[in-house]
Amino acid sequence: MSGSHLQIVVCGAGPAFDVTHLVRTAQEQSWTAAVTATPNAMDFIESQTIEGLTGHPVRSTYQSSPGTRRSLPSTDALVIAPATYNSINKIALGLADNYAMTSVAELIGRQVPTLIVPFVNAALAARAPFRHAVASLRDEGVRVLLGPDDKWEPHPPGSGNERQKAFPWTVAFETAAQLAHESRPAASGHA
Ligand SMILES: Cc1cc2nc3c(=O)[nH]c(=O)nc-3n(C[C@H](O)[C@H](O)[C@H](O)COP(=O)(O)O)c2cc1C
Repeated sequence: MSGSHLQIVVCGAGPAFDVTHLVRTAQEQSWTAAVTATPNAMDFIESQTIEGLTGHPVRSTYQSSPGTRRSLPSTDALVIAPATYNSINKIALGLADNYAMTSVAELIGRQVPTLIVPFVNAALAARAPFRHAVASLRDEGVRVLLGPDDKWEPHPPGSGNERQKAFPWTVAFETAAQLAHESRPAASGHA
């Protein structure tokens, strides 16, 4: 659907570098996109490239650039990708200890359609806190792309570089767009 806005949150894992794939995929479908990064994710991305592509500064702190609105823009869908073990556990607990986590907490609370695409190895994914976090987020209505049905599984420890190439950016956009479509009231007039 054209005229929609995608908010993307990247965390500190290798695939963050490739978030431009998600931005481009959204733009090809006439969506606008903006990227927020956790402080740790800033080491994994090329902010200037993203800013040139989206036309928006990459937000990582509460400090906004001149002319940038402080409040969250109207958002049709939120994609958190790549989502780390650390941030997934924090989001499930409602922790808001940086700008990215605070905006995620608020957008989920506003019932913005939300998709989380984890990038975790199998050892971390086996931990009880992570399994509980995924279950809790799903229970709250957050879509977590993970498991055999989603064809996206945790990778063996040490194989992250290889798995990064398979990160499902296109599926992430399609899933988020579908969530946005499903959340729209039938009488809203949107196609
Ligand atoms: C080179 C490198 C690669 C990393 N890859 C991952 C990863 O694939 N998945 C993950 O959950 N954490 C990964 N980490 C660890 C996270 O960066 C770390 O847990 C950090 O605290 C996450 O912060 P954030 O969740 O606020 O972005 C990696 C760290 C480094 C230095």
